[in-house]
Amino acid sequence: MDYKFTEEQEMIRQSARDFAQRELLTDVLERDAKGIYPAQHILRLAELGFLGMTVDPLWGGGGMDNISYVLAIEEISKCDASVAVILAVHNSLGCYGIEHFGNDTQKEKYLRPLATGEKIGAFLLSEPEAGSDATMQRTTAVDMGDHYILNGTKNWITSADKGSIYLVMAQTSPELKHKGINAFIVERNLPGISLGPHEDKMGMRSSDTHSVMFTDVRVPKENRIGEHGAGFKIAMKLLEGGRIGIAAQALGIAEGAYERALRYAKERKSFGTEIINHQAISFKLANMATRVEAARHLVYKSAWLKDNHLPYGKESAMAKYYAAETAMYVTTEAVQIHGGYGYVKEYHVERLMREAKVTQIYEGTSEIQQIVISRAIASE
Ligand code: CAA
Repeated sequence: MDYKFTEEQEMIRQSARDFAQRELLTDVLERDAKGIYPAQHILRLAELGFLGMTVDPLWGGGGMDNISYVLAIEEISKCDASVAVILAVHNSLGCYGIEHFGNDTQKEKYLRPLATGEKIGAFLLSEPEAGSDATMQRTTAVDMGDHYILNGTKNWITSADKGSIYLVMAQTSPELKHKGINAFIVERNLPGISLGPHEDKMGMRSSDTHSVMFTDVRVPKENRIGEHGAGFKIAMKLLEGGRIGIAAQALGIAEGAYERALRYAKERKSFGTEIINHQAISFKLANMATRVEAARHLVYKSAWLKDNHLPYGKESAMAKYYAAETAMYVTTEAVQIHGGYGYVKEYHVERLMREAKVTQIYEGTSEIQQIVISRAIASE
């Protein structure tokens, strides 16, 4: 793996950094406090070419590689992880799902508006009783000849309201268990789709999260993606890649908190010296810096594997697991280093700590990543 970024990758990183530092930081505290959706910022992401950044230019995307993608997510997450999760779900689940499993007609109709940022994508797998145990899908899709009828409820859906193209997993043949699950492209405005209230979350407060209810929703037959019965494998494959994006997000959150803690430790004085001169603080910073660096290597490696068309399932699980644990550790220490200031909103580290928590939960909990990793190493 080459540790020297190309000119293009550096440019993308700089552009994401400028956008995050100059635009996201200005209102992130207000959006966090009030749970305001970052509508203007999402439009800017489209202008910058970050929505659909890895999609082939043939379909209106940016044709960028996964290293560029993780660099962008990392920079944005340092400042505002809510914006990063919208971007990550849109790119690595929504766009990637249709690009890699859809046919050309589906790509023309649904991928193109996603790739240009005209529309936002969402991924609907989790259900009230199927979170980690994703094979237990209860949402049904009954084959009616030229269309399917969908019924059921999906939970914790990022971009459920502002997204307009859903990728939905539903059971067509319950007797076949996970082999009866199919994946469908569903337009958000179809009759029979309703949303639960906006979830009042601990962190990621300005991302749009709802449950989604399907009541006799008529989905055209041509909107099924992939082979019949391939829905569960498609979902698993998408999550393999999705976890690289969430790992990059966790890395960015950790870095954001580490950088703030380092700056603070160099300025704040106690007992007659800057607190970085106290070993209790400098050792904390040494641990934080080391873990951030280790997480960075895992994240870049998994993106590099994907770019090089090599297997990346185990590595993306490792990256997601380690980066999420690191984000929680580093943000907690950053609050501690800030003392009382860390506990108030204006210093940002308490927000970063709240944002870190969900990286241990969504797109597969840390415990699920341990399952994926342990099964992979057992079969090596
Ligand atoms: N690629 C392709 N196929 C895969 C696969 C992969 N990565 N992983 C599993 N499969 C296949 C298996 O080969 C198996 O197929 P066969 O029956 O044909 O052999 C089938 O899928 C079932 O696999 P398992 O027997 O391994 O299934 P399991 O029930 O033991 O569990 C699991 C698998 C890894 C625990 C899985 O359920 C899982 O990943 N759970 C977590 C779900 C998750 O991450 N949810 C996140 C929701 S999305 C989200 O958070 C988005 C957001 O908005 C932020």
